[in-house]
Order: sequence, then C-alpha cells, then structure tokens
Amino acid sequence: SITFNKPPSVAFLTGQFTAENVIKKVTRSGDLSGVFHDIAAWQAIPSDTPIYEVEMLNSLQGEGELYVGMTHLHPGRVGNEFHMTRGHFHQRREQGEVYFGIRGSGLLLLQNEHRKAWLEHVSPGSVHIIPGDTAHRLINTGSEVLSALAVWPSIAGHDYGSLAQGFAARVVLQDGKIQAKEVQNG
Ligand code: PA5
Ligand code: NI
Repeated sequence: SITFNKPPSVAFLTGQFTAENVIKKVTRSGDLSGVFHDIAAWQAIPSDTPIYEVEMLNSLQGEGELYVGMTHLHPGRVGNEFHMTRGHFHQRREQGEVYFGIRGSGLLLLQNEHRKAWLEHVSPGSVHIIPGDTAHRLINTGSEVLSALAVWPSIAGHDYGSLAQGFAARVVLQDGKIQAKEVQNG
C-alpha cells in the first residue's frame, strides 16, 4: 500500500524548522579568529557570544544526496564590519549550492578562485544559485536575524583553509552607509 510520509516544514516568517532530529551547530565569536579585520574589536566581544546557528535536517548522505540547512545569522557588527559567516569553498570544488533568503536582510558574498568577488542582496524570497568553484559567505547588514535556507550536495564538503587569506571584499558601516570595500589581503 502507498504510505504518506510527514515531511519536515519551515516557518517562512522565522525560518524555524519543525522536524525531529534537527542538528544544531552554534558558531560563537571565539570560533571566528582571523575572520573580522578589527582584531581589537573582536577581542573585546565575549568569546561565547553566538554569531550564527546552523540547523540541519536529517537527510541521506552519499553521492547524489542533498543536505538542507538553515543559517540564522545574528545582527551586529565587530568594529565597523557586519556579522558574517566564516565562508568557504566546497572541498569538492565543482559542487554548487542554492541559498534562499527567508528572514531579515543582508548580502551573499561570492568569490571565484581568481579572487574575483561579487555580492547579491539577500531578502525574504531571494534565490541564490551558487555555481561550482565559488566561495560563499553570508553577511547580515540588517537589524534583525538573517535566516537563509541552503541546499547542497552531501559530498561537497567544506574547505575553509583555502580562504585563509580572506575574501577580496569586506562589508562595513561607514559614514552611516553600508559599503563594500575591496581588499588585497582579506
Ligand atoms: O552549506 C552552506 O554553505 C551553509 O550551510 C554554511 O555552512 C553556513 O551558512 C555556515 O557557514 P560556514 O560553513 O561558512 O561557517
Ligand atoms: Ni556551502
């Protein structure tokens, strides 16, 4: 006989998953050494301050399978620089990903292997097709939590090390405006 599975769901206003077995990983200020350019401002923040949380649905792993995760990035700045995720290339460089804006407003910083960087506005309903060979980082430029849903191949993996130099752009509040700055050594 045909069965009906109960799928997980996401609350569109908050990005909260309703599912069993959601795995949650919190990234705190102290985990983000070397990420923000103003080291003194970063050191002044208690190291246990949560910056973002990622909730993952329970899904299959292996060639052809997909992971689904929700990132909740808290609003705020370190010095003049807006809160952001660490950012990464995929270990399997050619693997892409899709982000969907759910709540809040911010930017998706993208960068290819030649350090060419570009930005997309993230807002509720926005769809971001991240090609293969492209590093990606979320930046919260708003005053509420930025929540974005991500879907990516489970074989993709994360490569954080290749961005040790940092991204080629930083997003800061300067003269009361959100500004993207090109930088040599992130
Ligand atoms: O798969 C993704 O790209 C996201 O789920 C990110 O992992 C998430 O936003 C956290 O960012 P990072 O992995 O760069 O710390
Ligand atoms: Ni990714």
